[in-house]
Amino acid sequence: MVAYKSKMVERIRLPSREQRERNLEAAGYNLFNLSSEEVFVDLLTDSGTGAMSDAQWAALIRGDESYAGSRSFEELEEAVADVMGFSNVVPTHQGRGAENVLYGALLSAGDVVPNNTHFDTTRAHISNQDADPVDCPIDVAHDPDAEEPFKGNFSLERARAVVEEHGAERIPVVVQTITNNSAAGQAVSVENTRKVREFADEIDATFVIDACRFAENAYFVSQREEEFADASIADIAREQLGYADALVMSGKKDGLVNAGGFVATDDDALFEQCKQRAILYEGFPTYGGMAGRDVAAMAVGLREAVEDAYLEDRIEQVREFGAQLAAVGVPVYTPTSGHAVYVDAGELFPHLDAEEFPGQVLACELYREGGVRGVELGSFAFPDTDRPELVRLAVPRRTYHREHFDHVVETAEAVLEKRETVSGLQLASDPVMPEIRHFTAELEPV
Ligand code: F0G
Repeated sequence: MVAYKSKMVERIRLPSREQRERNLEAAGYNLFNLSSEEVFVDLLTDSGTGAMSDAQWAALIRGDESYAGSRSFEELEEAVADVMGFSNVVPTHQGRGAENVLYGALLSAGDVVPNNTHFDTTRAHISNQDADPVDCPIDVAHDPDAEEPFKGNFSLERARAVVEEHGAERIPVVVQTITNNSAAGQAVSVENTRKVREFADEIDATFVIDACRFAENAYFVSQREEEFADASIADIAREQLGYADALVMSGKKDGLVNAGGFVATDDDALFEQCKQRAILYEGFPTYGGMAGRDVAAMAVGLREAVEDAYLEDRIEQVREFGAQLAAVGVPVYTPTSGHAVYVDAGELFPHLDAEEFPGQVLACELYREGGVRGVELGSFAFPDTDRPELVRLAVPRRTYHREHFDHVVETAEAVLEKRETVSGLQLASDPVMPEIRHFTAELEPV
């Protein structure tokens, strides 16, 4: 059921087809190069793109900009304790700032870090400590059709193989990402989190949860995990996060803000280390790279993120969008995640090889046909992996309405109609950093 009405609006425009064609060419067929003014429905990311509530805007005005001992920081500490159950908080400018602070404190050169799946910035920050990030998804994670409830789970079997290979002493940290963004945003069960806790204890490692989408994950647990059928989402979230020694959080997702993040932990020694690193890289530990007003808005956002009505509105909107696309014949990854619909472009364009970037072709065609911007997460973003050719259509929180999704579905139908006639893309330039080429590389039609 819908849980919001609008109090402020932002004008959007659909450029003409000729303009869209010109924009695509000028952007080098890379949608990151488009101006937002050229986009009609922007599904590039759910990160920092949502709408804040009136209560958050009110908090913003009351934000305390004191350098040290800000009242807004105390509000954040209280919110993190109430919502997530942790007593120590180090605010950062966003999630990757938290990753830098925490992984810099925990890792040394030569370490190995298992994670159900590392998000790009997590992988990069672990590598930046000269440590080795290893993905441990379960087998069905990359099967777009398997109808299982927790395809985001951490594979204990794979993690044990990592221990066999490298030895427990080289694995000081184990990470679980909930939901598992880089595995189609799939949910993680509390049972799996408990098992990862036990595994971390076995090898004497610190257990970190990447909590970016912890509230959306808790909603799925309430729907799908028998034991929690009658539990409140707030209780589920606290229970699941409570198994971790530390959290890395991007407030831009389930903090319901446009900027911000933090590390949270109950370990006082780790807290001290993180504070020192935060002073170096982020700012004094009571603001940490955020304006006091943004800290205040995040404190309110965290509480709103675990409200039942918000989550039902949010997750059902994304689920319905996925169902609408599937109903017109678009091959979508199932089950639908909490923050995005992932489309299988490999199945949509069977005549295109991986080298012709079918996902990027689909992303460009959605822009050409309807000014819609999504993001490719297949061979273009992840060269040399055997992942499916997915395109992510991420849904900003509390932002778009049914009419926007109707437009995207009509746009997808237009692409479906010409699916056999579209041709592939190829790289037009050699990227400087191949591992992040999808943000900047230009392409051209084959
Ligand atoms: N961890 C996960 C699972 C993420 O999805 C992200 C960001 C981060 C960490 C880093 O947080 O952006 O605040 O620095 N994901 C965004 C996305 C960018 O589009 O999925 P950040």
